Amino acid sequence: MSESVKILAIESSCDETAAAVVENGRRVLSDVISTQVPVHRLYGGVVPEIASRRHLEMIRPVCEEALREAGLTLADIDAIAVTHGPGLVGALLVGVSYAKALAFAANKPLIAVHHWQAHMAAAQIEHDPPYPYLSLIVSGSHSGIALMDEQGCHIIGESHDDAAGEAFDKIARALGLPYPGGPEIEKAGKSGRADYVEFPRAELENPYDFSFSGLKSAVLNYLNQRQMKGDPLRDEEVPHIAASAEEAICDVLSAKTVAAAKAYGIRHIVLCGGVAANSRLRAMLQKRAARIGAEVLWPSLRYCTDNAVMVGAAAYRQYVDKDFAPLSLNAMPRLPLPHKAK
Ligand code: KG4
Ligand code: ZN
Repeated sequence: MSESVKILAIESSCDETAAAVVENGRRVLSDVISTQVPVHRLYGGVVPEIASRRHLEMIRPVCEEALREAGLTLADIDAIAVTHGPGLVGALLVGVSYAKALAFAANKPLIAVHHWQAHMAAAQIEHDPPYPYLSLIVSGSHSGIALMDEQGCHIIGESHDDAAGEAFDKIARALGLPYPGGPEIEKAGKSGRADYVEFPRAELENPYDFSFSGLKSAVLNYLNQRQMKGDPLRDEEVPHIAASAEEAICDVLSAKTVAAAKAYGIRHIVLCGGVAANSRLRAMLQKRAARIGAEVLWPSLRYCTDNAVMVGAAAYRQYVDKDFAPLSLNAMPRLPLPHKAK
C-alpha cells in the first residue's frame, strides 16, 4: 500500500452535495459543500424530490471542484468513497451512482460509508481521542451513544423514535421558526428562560437509550392547550419555549452520556453530528463530564453538519482494511449500524 492514500469522498444523503479529497484520513486537501438549505427553507423542511434534482445538478461540478482545489486529477486518487445510507433514497442514489461511475471509469476501488460512521469519524480529523472513548452522535436522523475501541464501534444506546435534530426541527416548526430548526431554537433560546416550562425527560429500560417524541408531543400539547384556553402563545414567549425545549433535549443527552462514561470508566467523550453545533449541549456536557474527570471533544462547526471530509476520514479505515464495495452497490435509505461495527 502506498504511504499516501488519497480518497475522493462524496456525500449526498440529505440536503448538502459535498465532495472532498482527504489524505490518510486526516489531511484535508479539499472540502467543497453546495448547500440546498435556502431552497428547502421555503417549504419548512427538506423536500426529497427537490433534493434529488439539486444533487443531480451539483454532483459533477462539486466533485470536479474538489479535485481542482486539491490540485489533483482522478488518476492521482487511490479510492472513491461515498455515503450509501441511511438517508433520502433519491438523494443517496445520485452520490452512489456518480461514485460507481467514477470508480468504474478510472478503475479505482469503491468504498461504501455508513453516514453515522462518517459523523463519528469527523472527530478524528482534528483530534486524536485515545481508545476507548464514547461517541455521542446527534444528527437530524440519528441519536445514539457508541463505545469506540480498537475493535470498532459498539452501540450502547439509541433513540427509540425521533432523533435529537428531528425533535429540534419539529419543535421549531411548531413555534413558527424556519428550517433547519436546531440553530433557530438555539438563537431564539439565548434570550429565553430555560425553566419557563418543565418539559418531560423520558426514562427508558436501557438507561442509555433516548426518546424525544414525548417531548415533541408535550410542546405541541402545551401550544394547543394555550390556544384552546384562548391564551395563544405570544411572540415574546417563543424564546422561553425554545430555551425550555432546548434545555430538556440537552439535559437528557448530556446526563445519559456522562452516566455511560462513568459506568464504562471512560475519560474521553466525542460529540458529533449536526446537533453537536449546539453550544448549550457542549457546555452542559463539558460541565457534567468534568465532574467525573472526563474530557469532551467536538469537531469544528463545518465538520459537525453534513460534509464529505468526514466520509473521507471514515473511508480511510475501510481502505486500510481493504473493505471495498462492489459496483453493484445500492443506496440504502434505512441502513442500521450493526451493534458491533468495525
Ligand atoms: O448531521 P446533520 O447535518 O444531518 C443529518 O445527518 O441529519 O444534522 C442536521 C441536524 C438538523 O436537525 C439541525 O436542526 C441540527 O442538526 N442542528 C442543530 C444545530 N445546528 C444544526 N441542532 C441544535 N443546535 C444547533 N446549533
Ligand atoms: Zn448527517
